[in-house]
Amino acid sequence: MNNIKEIISEAAIKNRVIELGKILTEEYKNKDLVIIAIMNGSLIFSADIIREIKLPLIYDIFGASSYINETSTGKLAIRTNLKNQIKNKHVLLIDDILDTGFTLKFIKEYMQEQQPLSIKTCVLLNKNIPNKISQPDYKAFDIENEFVVGYGLDFNEQYRNLPYIGVIS
Ligand code: IMP
Ligand code: MG
Repeated sequence: MNNIKEIISEAAIKNRVIELGKILTEEYKNKDLVIIAIMNGSLIFSADIIREIKLPLIYDIFGASSYINETSTGKLAIRTNLKNQIKNKHVLLIDDILDTGFTLKFIKEYMQEQQPLSIKTCVLLNKNIPNKISQPDYKAFDIENEFVVGYGLDFNEQYRNLPYIGVIS
């Protein structure tokens, strides 16, 4: 294992997830909500945030990936599709990190065809990079432009189980 330098602690994540959960609970009150977690990166974040949204909701997963090593391939491979209908429902897409914005923009457009009432995005991390092609509607943290792992985020499928977020040093 490489050395990991912690940049966001387990406690800080917990507090922010509770806070964001309250905001989303207000936002989706009396709305038919479908949470769609983009796998595998949002496995842990989505599991934690849904328990802080104190509303009835449907949870589904969507598999997509674009990264090999530390660079985006610029192509998105869809691995699993939705089981649930999203037509006439409010969709909240959950992902681990918004980097270029390519992934969430692509998935948003892909799902738009199924005519949901709304589609918004919620990410754990929003990377500070120039020329993003989309912005998140909700985010837990802004980070600098560095490659991070932990709390669901991987480097070649490793480190997802770290309870905090860190950079490989
Ligand atoms: P985007 O399409 O460039 O916004 O990239 C989003 C996807 O790339 C995320 O869902 C992650 O899976 C992956 N990704 C981007 N930056 C990082 C990082 O720093 N660590 C781990 N995965 C990342
Ligand atoms: Mg991902």
